[in-house]
Amino acid sequence: MLGAAEDVRLEISVGCLGVLWCAYNVVWKGETTPLFGRQLPMVNSKLALIRTFGCQMNERDTETIRGLLQQEGYGFTDNPEEADLILYNTCCVRENPERKVYGQVGQLQELKAKRPGLIIGICGCMPQQKEELPVMLERLPHVDLFFGTHNIHRLPELLHRVCTTGERVVEILDDSDEPIEGLPALRSNDFKAFVTIMHGCNNFCSYCIVPYVRGRERSRTPEAVLQEIRILADRGVKEVTLLGQNVNSYGKDLKSDIDFAQLLELVNEVPGIQRIRFTTSHPKDISDRLIRQLGRLDKVCEHLHLPVQAGSNNVLRRMNRRYTREYYLEIVEKVRQEVPGVSITTDIMVGFPGETDDDFADTLSLVEQVRFDSAFTFIYSPRKGTPAAELLDQVPEEVKKERIYKLIEVQNKVSLEINQSLVGSEVEVLVEGTSKSDAQMLTGKTRTNKTVLFAGTRELIGELVKVRIIEAQTWSLVGELI
Ligand code: 5AD
Ligand code: SF4
Repeated sequence: MLGAAEDVRLEISVGCLGVLWCAYNVVWKGETTPLFGRQLPMVNSKLALIRTFGCQMNERDTETIRGLLQQEGYGFTDNPEEADLILYNTCCVRENPERKVYGQVGQLQELKAKRPGLIIGICGCMPQQKEELPVMLERLPHVDLFFGTHNIHRLPELLHRVCTTGERVVEILDDSDEPIEGLPALRSNDFKAFVTIMHGCNNFCSYCIVPYVRGRERSRTPEAVLQEIRILADRGVKEVTLLGQNVNSYGKDLKSDIDFAQLLELVNEVPGIQRIRFTTSHPKDISDRLIRQLGRLDKVCEHLHLPVQAGSNNVLRRMNRRYTREYYLEIVEKVRQEVPGVSITTDIMVGFPGETDDDFADTLSLVEQVRFDSAFTFIYSPRKGTPAAELLDQVPEEVKKERIYKLIEVQNKVSLEINQSLVGSEVEVLVEGTSKSDAQMLTGKTRTNKTVLFAGTRELIGELVKVRIIEAQTWSLVGELI
């Protein structure tokens, strides 16, 4: 069978509507994919709709899913009415996105009743949770396919099984040993790209579900990362963002003694790449050598996303973050010395179990002391299976809300002040597209990851241009082309 290139037309006569629909519509092509050396079906002229929730890692996974589906002959649509496959790539870090998935997928029941041949799937972090999966299976009876974060590469075969058996297919695997290489990707942008450098997380912050659903840290080899980046550069990509839950521990699990600082150096040498970003950094693992590299390597952008989570040592200890407020402040100081003009952004959570008014006041004072350029702010939500969810001193919802409003108010004031200080300066912008509200305005990002709006024509999309800042807002800047 391997390497066979014959056309095979499948005729199936099973009394299930879904299967009949597949047999009627689908032309199977015997085709060996270069990826797995296995004969996989090719589905012609089908349309897929993929909804993605959560972090950049999920967005990157969706690009792989789109690549795999494209190889299977799928096109893409945003319209559920014309989709043959609707796939939700889900996030379980907080309760809110989970609730949305239940709501949106629940509503698809009507569409499924009208068109039984429609395949509905859920993948990503939600089904990967051992305790949530049975709930999903029961609450979403019209979903045909469930798979997790470790078996995305199996999608073509799983889809084939749904079509040929007409039965619900559920395949969730525990950690795969090594990252799977060579998967296709349909990128969402021509000039900037996410590149996953490692999977999983070993940190087990007490509130966080990620290590349970993404498994232990597994670094891709530097060769694989560089090869991907060289190919991207050859295709015209100018900016890469290196992704990992904790990029600072890159390489610790590899046989070679490479670390993240060295990887940055290697990526910095790839011709064509003009900007390098990375996320996320855990403060406990950021080395002095890495901080020096950030200032030294010309393509590495002057932006560090360094989640602090809380300003109180008490809370940090119970979060199992393994650094103190003082240590965090020291890092910020070092980074500002080594990387002039750096912007520092963060993630902050309020309402962690047992967080007192004094603890929260420590968070506010840290925000004022560090002066973050911006912050993602979250209300703590208990995640089943994590140690913090078992703590008895959960903070009441009203208190959490009051605290987040206060935190946002303080941070917004700082963000605006920092942005105002940039008025009159010249910045380099990678032009990303036109503004959603005004097609005459272009939008792009500075090296410090700030959004800039300015008047210009569409030919500039994908280009690096110089812009003078003329006006500051809390979350963006307005400029004029120089
Ligand atoms: N509740 C609220 N926010 C959380 N985060 C992670 N887990 C939780 C949770 N249980 C936040 C952290 C992390 C970001 C990606 O999501 O701030 O840095
Ligand atoms: Fe979650 Fe902590 Fe790992 Fe980040 S470092 S993914 S917060 S466990």
